[in-house]
Amino acid sequence: MTLIAFHDSNDNSSIIDWHNCALKFDKKVSFVPLTNKNADQAEFALVWNPPKGRLAELKRLKLICSLGQGVDHLWKDLSMPLSIPIIRLVDPNMSRALSQWVLAVLLDFLRDGPFYRSKREKREFCKLSERNTFDLKVAVYGIGAIGAVVAKNLETLEFSVTGWAQTKKPQLLFRQATGTVGFQRLIATNFVHICLLPLTTHTKKLFTKEIFMKMPKGAYFINAGRGEQVDEAGLLDAVKTGHLSGAALDVFCEEPLPKAHPFWNEQKISIWPHVAAQTNPETVIEQIMESIYAIKSGRIPKNVVDPVRQY
Ligand code: GLV
Repeated sequence: MTLIAFHDSNDNSSIIDWHNCALKFDKKVSFVPLTNKNADQAEFALVWNPPKGRLAELKRLKLICSLGQGVDHLWKDLSMPLSIPIIRLVDPNMSRALSQWVLAVLLDFLRDGPFYRSKREKREFCKLSERNTFDLKVAVYGIGAIGAVVAKNLETLEFSVTGWAQTKKPQLLFRQATGTVGFQRLIATNFVHICLLPLTTHTKKLFTKEIFMKMPKGAYFINAGRGEQVDEAGLLDAVKTGHLSGAALDVFCEEPLPKAHPFWNEQKISIWPHVAAQTNPETVIEQIMESIYAIKSGRIPKNVVDPVRQY
């Protein structure tokens, strides 16, 4: 018997879909909503943004699995049982999807999609001269499972890419910059900035107004990391004053983005409702069931996160 307590605060996926997928790997698997009393007996939890304090009540719990690639939603619960292994999803399909999203918004910006769409209403058939993208410098902040794929794909398309991480990742072949000095250098010298970092105490509000103003004039900012990494008012100012050409955002400090948020009024900021890479039960269930099997047979599962590092 495998009992999994389930919670998806976004209602992106249904407990029935997850159960049907899991049955292919374990005929005796059951899912129960985390908020249900019966979840008290669960040994496994599959959750996105669980109600605070609830996981600590599950005394038989042996594994917590994040319903996404990020785990920052778990640290919001100060009573999170940190002695239990916590794993995150690492899915090549999600990395590919995210990489496609980055390419879509980057190429749309470079080929002046926003400008041409704005001409549609008045039926103006007018041209801008083509942007010179030869050797366009692109910085990718965060080169883990997702960022490494994004950087590699951009390099294949002949962009001049530098990946940024706190420390060098020798297994990755593209150019890298590290630490605070490397970060400041990339900010000052790159034209496109792509944030794919995990949210931790170190990356919270990393992109301040001052940082945006240090980017070269006309730079473009893309964020599929977390909204809390950005000073949103500072970004808006940098776009409004014309220092930045614009931004494409898939993540926000508050989601859903409130109707009164000033980003909605700024045409140069493209708004995406956290869809760059969505969790698909069909493609991730195998790794979840393998992790459950690992725990049952006394092994350490894959993709365990470090609560101290916060990712
Ligand atoms: C999405 O934001 C995820 O963490 O998978």
